[in-house]
Amino acid sequence: MAARDAIKQYLKENARRFEEELCQLLRIPSVSTDPQYAGEVERAAQWLAEHFRSLGLDAQVHPTKGHPIVVARSPRVPEAPTVLVYGHYDVQPPDPLELWDSPPFEPTRRDGDLYARGATDDKGQMFTHVKAAEAWLKTTGSLPVNLIFLIEGEEEVGSAHLDPFLEEHQEELRCDCVVISDMCQFGPGQPAITYGLRGIVYYELRLQGPNRDLHSGTFGGAVTNPANVLVRLLASLVDEHGKVQVPGFYDDVKPISAEERQRLAMLPFSEEAFFQQLGVEGGSGERGFTTLERCWARPSFDINGLSAGYQGEGAKTIIPAQASAKFSFRLVPNQDPAKITAALEPFLREQLPPGVTMELKSYHGAKGVLVNDEHPYVKAAAEAISEAFGTAPVFIREGGSIPVVSTFQERFGVPVLLLGWGQNDDNTHSPNEKISLSDFHQGTRASAFLLEEIARLGSV
Ligand code: BES
Ligand code: MN
Ligand code: MN
Repeated sequence: MAARDAIKQYLKENARRFEEELCQLLRIPSVSTDPQYAGEVERAAQWLAEHFRSLGLDAQVHPTKGHPIVVARSPRVPEAPTVLVYGHYDVQPPDPLELWDSPPFEPTRRDGDLYARGATDDKGQMFTHVKAAEAWLKTTGSLPVNLIFLIEGEEEVGSAHLDPFLEEHQEELRCDCVVISDMCQFGPGQPAITYGLRGIVYYELRLQGPNRDLHSGTFGGAVTNPANVLVRLLASLVDEHGKVQVPGFYDDVKPISAEERQRLAMLPFSEEAFFQQLGVEGGSGERGFTTLERCWARPSFDINGLSAGYQGEGAKTIIPAQASAKFSFRLVPNQDPAKITAALEPFLREQLPPGVTMELKSYHGAKGVLVNDEHPYVKAAAEAISEAFGTAPVFIREGGSIPVVSTFQERFGVPVLLLGWGQNDDNTHSPNEKISLSDFHQGTRASAFLLEEIARLGSV
């Protein structure tokens, strides 16, 4: 326990510096989806590697066909288990810029929160583990476990180059468990351990009509309007209750067990507060399921972007030549993204009237996952979180997706601990993204304690 006291002390004394260092990383606009930022993405990778080296870790920036992957290793501790911390240093685009109260890449403290793009997703959450490692190294001179940091730069664009990298480096990356902090607590003051994530499959649908925009008076009624067709096609994908209409879509969906439904129903969840903070009076979705079940354990369909025709001031009477949409399905464990694409394409094509052609492009896919929530390391995590946050974690699923989790489970066959330090109102992917500084520091403490708990258990 002496080590633990020294660590607590160290974390307290250095809290402000940790925040400053996080701000340095947050100032780098590592937007992975936009090629214009490629240099900045690279700079973030180099910053991280340099930071790991300054702590005495051996760090490398591995180039890929996309953005680089940073791998850092702590000095070897024989006999001790190996923990792999996964995170991502890339961020979503900051747009729309005018809605930020302070610039997205000028981290700003307000009311105990730190605002910046990437503050919670995932630079801030990932960094807690870096600082936990530092606390061990600077107070005791060594870590209780072997640590591998695997921090990628393409999570927000689907992690396309990560699987091949993991395959190639599987031996060096062998570990006893994976720890990921890239999700949320259940609420303020209520930490959580996540045991399920949804998957995703994302598409862009482009419709081409006449060879130019046309006068809708001269041609309307006889020439097929791609925008009209687009809305019909999109509407055909779900019924009014959000039930997906693609043939076979639910074939592989496992029902939620009665026991799990009961557990989810016992979480202290306020429907009213949930919708109120979003500025809506209520929601809608699949019949027979609660809001939490809809978000966490049932698939969903969402249009993510729509464009066609005249969008400027006033009216313009045209039949647009093109129309396009981006949309995605969130998937639950056991659903296969490839199978869904195979059913979707003909379902859409069969509905096309003469006069339009379509192109369906599929972007990233990720499988939904359920992780073992009874592994001894999960109990260790619960202990560490209870001590660091002063409250025992609840067990939750979440609706977001992290593509690599299924790879860690399937290829590495190791337990994955999903320990989110964020909050649902952190504005992930939105303007004014933030992390609560107390969550950041408590997460750092929990991480430091967790390493000791895992070391105590050894390789199991
Ligand atoms: N950190 C999120 C995933 C997440 C969000 C997990 C909320 C749990 C709760 C991650 O950075 C993310 O945004 N993932 C993408 C996946 C994708 C681009 C393949 C997502 O969920 O949209
Ligand atoms: Mn993330
Ligand atoms: Mn994200």
